[in-house]
Amino acid sequence: MNNVRPETMERITTPALAKTFIEEQVAEVRAQVGDKKVLLALSGGVDSSVVAALLIKAIGKQLVCVHVNHGLMRKGESEDVIKVFGEELDANLIYVDATDRYLDLLAGVADPEKKRKIIGEEFIKIFDEEAAKLEGISFLAQGTIYPDIIESKGVKAHHNVGGLPEEMEMELVEPLKFLYKDEVRVVGEALGLPHAMVYRQPFPGPGLGVRCLGAITRDRLAALREADAILREEFDKNGLNHVWQYFVAVPDFKSVGVRDGKRYEGWPAIIRAVNTVDAMTATIEEIPYAVLHRITERITHEVEGINRVCMDLTPKPIGTIEWE
Ligand code: XMP
Repeated sequence: MNNVRPETMERITTPALAKTFIEEQVAEVRAQVGDKKVLLALSGGVDSSVVAALLIKAIGKQLVCVHVNHGLMRKGESEDVIKVFGEELDANLIYVDATDRYLDLLAGVADPEKKRKIIGEEFIKIFDEEAAKLEGISFLAQGTIYPDIIESKGVKAHHNVGGLPEEMEMELVEPLKFLYKDEVRVVGEALGLPHAMVYRQPFPGPGLGVRCLGAITRDRLAALREADAILREEFDKNGLNHVWQYFVAVPDFKSVGVRDGKRYEGWPAIIRAVNTVDAMTATIEEIPYAVLHRITERITHEVEGINRVCMDLTPKPIGTIEWE
């Protein structure tokens, strides 16, 4: 299989160039799959969303999308996938709510790498189970992009939960495999996907699982999800959503506070906002104090269980971007 981007391939920087690329790919995909069915794991991330939109345009209901909600998604994410793909684009979408399955398996597991392993392996199991229920699937679509090929020799980012069962012997459909991320975004917008979906910040495959530090509990996960939603909302409102990655982590210890004149024990919400080019090193975004005050006020008043907000000012190195 040819995995080198043709030297003659023009950079896709405009809607017009994206339109030409889409037309070419639609024709190619139709020629490749004929009247057969194609399966896609749709996480709702940029790459899988753009592949889904492209394939829906090319082959409509011959594409079967499986969205697994592992219970570690950010607030509103699975709902957005259902709204955009299930309703607006009328895709053939299978939605699997695996929240209980994941949280039961993760209960009491504090080691970050064990958590990642459980999350990744369970995804493969669920995807396999769903594939087994379907008949006549001949192709597997993947949101592989060119950096995946360069960095991990053709395997979709090695630590991505979207990693698929190796034993699935289906021919691959990878229409974005020669594109860089910025090109994928231009193509996504030309396909009519919402701007916020196409330009969203990177989100790790294990999701909030590696931001609910230590052993995950449902109450702390719920607090993290709410605090993270407030952070994102305030970044949007205050023109800060150009920051490369911004999120909340919630550690598994409490400190003392006061609420309504009474002692109130709660977890701290740790805010992190970093800029980077390649995620190998990162610098800290300087957030205006007024915005930090507003975020602190909202998180400590609106989120059950959180009584402090702290800001992580550590660059990478010495800190990694995620806390675990
Ligand atoms: P670190 O924490 O290593 O993060 O500085 C660098 C980038 O990688 C993301 N990250 C992950 N992405 N699965 C993923 O798909 C993971 O297990 C994982 N761990 C870290 C992180 O969000 C940052 O963008």
